[in-house]
Amino acid sequence: MRMKTGMDLPHPPAVDWKEDRLLLLDQRRLPTETVYLELTRPEEVREAIRELAVRGAPAIGIAAAYGLYLGVRDVPGEDEEDFWETLNRTCDRLGTSRPTAVNLHWALRRMVRRAESLRGKPLSEIKEALLREAEAIRREDAEVCRRIGEHALSLLQDGMGVLTHCNAGGLATAAYGTALAPLYLAKERGWRLKVFADETRPVLQGARLTAYELKQAGIDVTLICDNMAADVMRRGWVQAVIVGTDRVAANGDVANKIGTYGVAVLARAHGIPFYVAAPTSSIDMETPTGADIPIEERPAEEVTQGFGKRTAPEGVAVYNPAFDITPAEYVTAIITERGVIRPPYAEGLRRVMEEPPK
Ligand code: MRU
Repeated sequence: MRMKTGMDLPHPPAVDWKEDRLLLLDQRRLPTETVYLELTRPEEVREAIRELAVRGAPAIGIAAAYGLYLGVRDVPGEDEEDFWETLNRTCDRLGTSRPTAVNLHWALRRMVRRAESLRGKPLSEIKEALLREAEAIRREDAEVCRRIGEHALSLLQDGMGVLTHCNAGGLATAAYGTALAPLYLAKERGWRLKVFADETRPVLQGARLTAYELKQAGIDVTLICDNMAADVMRRGWVQAVIVGTDRVAANGDVANKIGTYGVAVLARAHGIPFYVAAPTSSIDMETPTGADIPIEERPAEEVTQGFGKRTAPEGVAVYNPAFDITPAEYVTAIITERGVIRPPYAEGLRRVMEEPPK
């Protein structure tokens, strides 16, 4: 299966829609198995998001948009009350699947707004419009990622070493990724970047997903354990860090995969620029600072017996936040599809978010 994006990415798409079903690449099984979940009910979509079958902020939003459509498509006949009640209930259920990525709420809000704009029309028409809206969210995400890639590329140079954390690649989006988009574009231009992928404890998105998709693309990627980032920086092998984000607060604080903050501090200590690739759908002007971003805590078993092998004593206390906050002062620039934002972020983010979408 290939993405129809104008660029033939080497890995299968994270989210697809075929024959009235939502297809989600089950990322829990990568890199060894390529298996798609075929979903027809919103509860299945919610579960797939919660259990990380689909993950990465933009991909979560896209999946939820289709999930909302699946929720209302079987409301029978012209029962308006049932339709709107089902829409709101499904929206609430999907909206609580994961707390940190704001793209989830962004996509659901956009879907509900679309439905509201057609209030009074035949329900069949509204349902059809919702499916088209979910398709548009997916299509636009690929375009947004490509633009982020172009802006990000202007900050890199041929021959550089680039370190990334977690997976903000094609598997986390409709195509290209956010943080990984410039790496794909660099490859198209014949540049030789050397990428270091943090393995990203505890569920190894860096090892299982980033290393997988970059390797499939023929990009020079070296996998390192999270605790090796300082060493490769000290050796002078890294000239830029680029990561994705689940939510950027109005002051420029950034939520991303746990461990990102540590990487940012290390980058500062070594004089290396730390870039955050953020589609505007990840920027939340209603959340004033990083302290206001809800951080998901995940089950202890991810740490004590990841992938089925017990590596800690039974019953040990575990702290397992899925994300951390990197304070704005550590961020060299935020790269959006509308351009590169430099500090002071409060002003820059406001300007970019007020820009009418092109
Ligand atoms: O828990 P995950 O795998 O959903 O976390 C993903 C990340 O932290 C990504 O960096 C972020 O969502 C950006 S994806 C373009």
